[in-house]
Amino acid sequence: MLGVTPEAVCSRCHDEHQNVKGYLVAKTMRGLIDSLELREQGAQKLVNEAEQKGMEISEAKFKLRDVRQARLQSRTMVHAFSEGKFKEVVDNGIKISALIAEESQSAIHEYYFRRFGLVIATCIITLLALSLFLYVRRLERRQKQL
Ligand code: HEC
Repeated sequence: MLGVTPEAVCSRCHDEHQNVKGYLVAKTMRGLIDSLELREQGAQKLVNEAEQKGMEISEAKFKLRDVRQARLQSRTMVHAFSEGKFKEVVDNGIKISALIAEESQSAIHEYYFRRFGLVIATCIITLLALSLFLYVRRLERRQKQL
């Protein structure tokens, strides 16, 4: 309903020519809500990915609630018609989304870092086992020669 598209309620009385202030506010609010929703989805996706990789990110996951809260609050704030307060709520939600994304991202990085460490460790252990095997075989050969 919010916005300046033909189907938006605000467009009935606000456009570039009539009640322009309301038109601009409707446009800004719509943009802010859209960007909050986008950030929320992005954060949610990263949390899911980190979780699927078995990383501990319950804190970030918990913060998603605050983002949802901000999104719901922004909806009711539309009716206060105060662009400043509305922006405050949305900005807060966007800020928390960025934090969540950051935390999930670093959890995902850590996952790959650990996997990389595992590969290195496996290589070293294999190399050690191989040299031990060759060493034992050489010892056996020497014993037979004696
Ligand atoms: C039924 C007609 C109507 C609808 C629908 C409507 N408005 Fe308005 N709105 C008005 C009128 C009339 C004014 C007062 C005229 C003015 O100050 O420009 C106004 C004023 C405003 C103002 C204050 C402008 C100022 O000068 O401070 C804002 C903000 C506003 N509207 C936003 C919206 C938004 C956002 C929507 C959609 C959710 C909306 N309006 C829907 C008729 C409407």
